[in-house]
Amino acid sequence: LEGEAKDAFENAADSEALESVRVQFLGAKKGALKDVQKQMGGIDKDDRKAAGMRLNAFKSSVQDAFEQTAARLGGGGSDGVDPTFDPTLPGVRPELGHVHPITQTINHLMEIMGRMGFSAAEGPEVEDPWHNFVALNIPEDHPARDPLDNFYLSTAEAAAGSEGSQLLRSQTSTVQIRVMEKQAPPIRIISLGRVYRPDAPDATHFPMFHQMEGLYVDKHVTMANLKTVLRVFATNYLGDDVEIRFRPSFFPFTEPSVEVDFYWNGAWIEFGGAGMVDPAVFSAVGYDPDEVSGFAFGLGVERLCMRRHGITDIRDLYSGDLRFLSQF
Ligand code: PHE
Repeated sequence: LEGEAKDAFENAADSEALESVRVQFLGAKKGALKDVQKQMGGIDKDDRKAAGMRLNAFKSSVQDAFEQTAARLGGGGSDGVDPTFDPTLPGVRPELGHVHPITQTINHLMEIMGRMGFSAAEGPEVEDPWHNFVALNIPEDHPARDPLDNFYLSTAEAAAGSEGSQLLRSQTSTVQIRVMEKQAPPIRIISLGRVYRPDAPDATHFPMFHQMEGLYVDKHVTMANLKTVLRVFATNYLGDDVEIRFRPSFFPFTEPSVEVDFYWNGAWIEFGGAGMVDPAVFSAVGYDPDEVSGFAFGLGVERLCMRRHGITDIRDLYSGDLRFLSQF
C-alpha cells in the first residue's frame, strides 16, 4: 500500500489530481489509511504496539509523499499558499445586524419612565382568564372575553373563555395584577410587551403589537398625578410642544376612565387609555381600596414609534424587510 500511495502521489500531474489521491489515501472518512486504522482493533494485544508503530511510520511516509508532490506542483498543499490569494486586497466586512425599531422604542420608553421612577415589570404572554379578565373586573359575559376577539389556546384543558382556559394576553394590564399580587404598595412600574388580538392586518392593525402599561399605587394618588406623568412622558418622547388631552371613556378596571390624546404636528392623536384603578381591582389582589389609590395607563408602542419616525404602515415593522429596517 505504501508503494502504491507513493506512486500515485508522484504521478499526480496537477493539484486536482493531487487532491483526489489525497482523499484516496489520507481522507478523514474513507481514506485507505483510515481503513487500516480501523483494522487495528482486531489485532492481538501483544502485536498491537508494533503494529501501531508501523502504522505511524506508514502514515508519515504517505504524508511526506503528499507534501513533496504538493511542493512540486507549487502550492495547494497543507503548507502551500493559494497563489490566487492576495493579502493586500480589502476584506469582505461581515454584515452586522442592529436593534429592531420597536426594541429601540421600548428601550427609549423605559429610559424616559425610569427617570420618573418607574421600573420595568414583566408577565407571561400566555395568560389565564383570571389575570387577563376576572381580576381586572371583566365579568364572564363581557364581550371582551369573546373567543372571536381573543386567541384562546386549543391546547388548554378547558373551553375557550372558561376558567382553566388559556389565551395570548390581549392587554398588558395583566401585569398590573401580577405585580400587585406579589408586592405591597407603593408600586410604580411600567410593563412593555407584546399583546395579541385577532385583527386583520392593515396599515394600522396587526394581530400582535406592543403596549406600555403603567401602574402607580400609593396613598393619595390622584388624576392630576396621572396627567402630569403622561405629559412629562409625551414631551420627552415626542417633543416640548406636545399637549395632552383626556376624553371620558370606560374600562372595567379603571374609574374614572379616559382616552389619552396627544396634540402633535397639528393634530390630536389617540395613544391609549388610562384611569384611576377601580376599587374592585384592588380588592381582587388583596389591597384595601380605602387605604390606597392609584392610576394605570396603557399606550400603544407601535403608534408612538410610528408617529415619531413617520412610519405609515405597521406591517412594515414586521415584514423583516431589511431595506425598511436598516433605516432605523
Ligand atoms: N388595557 C387597555 C387597552 O388595552 C388600556 C388601559 C390600560 C386602560 C390601563 C386603562 C388603564 O385598551
